[in-house]
Amino acid sequence: MSLLRTKNIDAMLAVAREDGLKKVLGPVDLVLMGIGAIIGTGIFVLTGTGALTAGPALTLSFVISAVACGLAALCYAEFASAIPVSGSIYTYSYATLGEIVAWMIGWDLILEYGLGMSAVSVGWSAYSQSLLAGFGWSLPAALTAAPGSVPGVASVLNLPAMVILLLITWLVSYGVRESARVNNLLVFIKTAVVLLFIGVGAWHVKPANWQPFAPFGAAGIFNAAALVFFAFIGFDAVTSAAEEVRNPRRDLPIGIIGSLAICTVLYVTVAAIMTGIVPYAQFAGVDHPVSLALQVAGQNWVAGFVDLGAILGITTVILVLTFGQTRIVFAMSRDGLLPAWLSSVHPRHATPHVATWTVGLVFAAIAGFVPLSVLAELINIGTLAAFALISVAVPVLRRTRPDLPRAFRCPGVPVLPLLSAAFCLFLMANLKRTTWLAFAIWLAMGLAIYFLYSRRNAVLHNSGGEASD
Ligand code: ALA
Repeated sequence: MSLLRTKNIDAMLAVAREDGLKKVLGPVDLVLMGIGAIIGTGIFVLTGTGALTAGPALTLSFVISAVACGLAALCYAEFASAIPVSGSIYTYSYATLGEIVAWMIGWDLILEYGLGMSAVSVGWSAYSQSLLAGFGWSLPAALTAAPGSVPGVASVLNLPAMVILLLITWLVSYGVRESARVNNLLVFIKTAVVLLFIGVGAWHVKPANWQPFAPFGAAGIFNAAALVFFAFIGFDAVTSAAEEVRNPRRDLPIGIIGSLAICTVLYVTVAAIMTGIVPYAQFAGVDHPVSLALQVAGQNWVAGFVDLGAILGITTVILVLTFGQTRIVFAMSRDGLLPAWLSSVHPRHATPHVATWTVGLVFAAIAGFVPLSVLAELINIGTLAAFALISVAVPVLRRTRPDLPRAFRCPGVPVLPLLSAAFCLFLMANLKRTTWLAFAIWLAMGLAIYFLYSRRNAVLHNSGGEASD
């Protein structure tokens, strides 16, 4: 049963209370932080592929994905309000479902955040090249994209994506404090850009472009929903601030659900306008669909602003994902599930610099050589699997710890969490077979590492076995 040993929740809560971090964040900060992590490559880049997959019915795909995320968000919110400790669902599952499940969730999160860093950097690269093109500059074709990602272009690697990711890695390892003011400013800019697109684009919609509405039927809509799920990833990052929130039991659910709701409204509107301006087939091979729509509408100046805003906005997503990734790796290393050198802290900068550079270098290489759509699907499958597990964990915690105070209670337990898990599995079923294969290989690697290394080196193992609640 040592596979299912759990960490003691009360001890974790005590540590979080005494951790010395300043409790300064309120609900508005959390909603803004959520939006900061959510709006990025998904809406600015993947909507092109989404439109090609679903046609104008992409709007419905966004709604379906949002429902899946919304259900998972309710489950997240209950956990975040009951166990406001950093480490997100890796920590929650270590406290409820047992070590091996926690390990697999942590392993999944590495897929989500790590490949997310790569994928979002690829989106950054697309928009910066679009902006440069506006000034008549361009990079040699070989350095613009991963091999095989743009039909007809003999590309070798995506240099801008690698460069931005390494720059962010440097910043994070240097100890950049993402002050609430800087984050809020960038979130303001990127939300303004999305609203600018909506405000200008709405006047150029030709309703004829919405016909036929669903050229690829239900299958196309569901496949696109599984793809654009990527656009919503990030709302879970709000939970990583758990130990710095004034009133976490009330404010974390507001942050999670509020940011998700705002982004859903923005996304559905953007999808409707984009497919209303540009006939969906014209998105083939386009990696900056939002600004393309404005160019088609003859709004080149506005398109330039959108490019710039997208670049700034996407940068914050890379930053948040990189922070999240280093935190997860750090937490897993501190628990003994990953080697201890990954949790060494820089003597001067006080950052987990080894973990940061390790993940930075690995995922910069991936950003350089793997196409975005492949990355996005892999990230989605890993995240959906983690969401499904965390949904199941809600009724488990209700049973094992009915006494734990929960400021936010997910409604309709156990039906709603089970529905959430089923929804996630359904979206996973809509991803490509190759994605499943790659995911299976990733899981097998995870299990092998767990049994060969983590199980024996876990702090819980060495501290004398099970700690139960
Ligand atoms: N949701 C984030 C994005 O779309 C990951 O960039």
